[in-house]
Amino acid sequence: MRILICGDVVGRSGRTVVLDNIKRLRATLKLDFIVVNGENAAGGFGITPKICNQFFDAGIDAITTGNHVFDQREIIPHFDREKRLLRPHNYPKTTPGTGVALFEAPRGRKVLIVHLMTRLFMDPLDDPFACAAQALETHRLKQNGIDAIIFDVHGEASSEKMAMAHMVDGRASVVVGTHSHIPTGDAHILTGGTAYQTDIGMCGDYDSVIGMKKQISVERFVRKMPTARLEAADGDGTLCATFVETDDATGLALRVEPLRLGGILASTMPE
Ligand SMILES: [Fe+2]
Ligand SMILES: [Fe+2]
Repeated sequence: MRILICGDVVGRSGRTVVLDNIKRLRATLKLDFIVVNGENAAGGFGITPKICNQFFDAGIDAITTGNHVFDQREIIPHFDREKRLLRPHNYPKTTPGTGVALFEAPRGRKVLIVHLMTRLFMDPLDDPFACAAQALETHRLKQNGIDAIIFDVHGEASSEKMAMAHMVDGRASVVVGTHSHIPTGDAHILTGGTAYQTDIGMCGDYDSVIGMKKQISVERFVRKMPTARLEAADGDGTLCATFVETDDATGLALRVEPLRLGGILASTMPE
């Protein structure tokens, strides 16, 4: 199966580069399944039902999020209606939505997404490692028709994301990190067959501080005084994604490559 996972979409710059390119990428890369992390899609803070619909109309199959999931309050009731929208699974049980969900892919295949948030330098949630172990006890590759298992591990610390990947190596098709908004150069297949990249990077304007207008962000660090609200940078966006090809016989990875397109980052495109 050919899967593309796009990193955190930040503001209009991120939405534009994703929406302008995703249909063509689906065709040229013969994609079977597309995931987008949408936690910063609405002006850098959260996501709205309207933006979710724009993504789904463009052919995106699933939307993951992260610590900014509920920044736009109108998204809260949307979790009851829209099962393709996920929040980290290790939020409290009473929080709307879920982070483990099964999706249909072409030719009768099924994809499981496990969406978790780490805890180092993040709001503490339930143990993501225990949560991952439980999800993989319930759902196994190539059992009950599951052809691929995708982990979106949303977190700050590289070590924690890497540890998660090694814990599930051989039992997930791919583990990607999100949240740092900076793509890491370590896409590879772990010894057990799981594809991994510590962070996909963002879909947004890189002439910025992690997607936000640089002047306001720099001033915050320099003066340590209250500043204007951070705003999403609005220059040309770069689409950052991880492309994975899995073996339909095992569900494990055959190939993993970063994809970068548009904006000011050097481009790279899987063959
Ligand atoms: Fe983010
Ligand atoms: Fe985040």
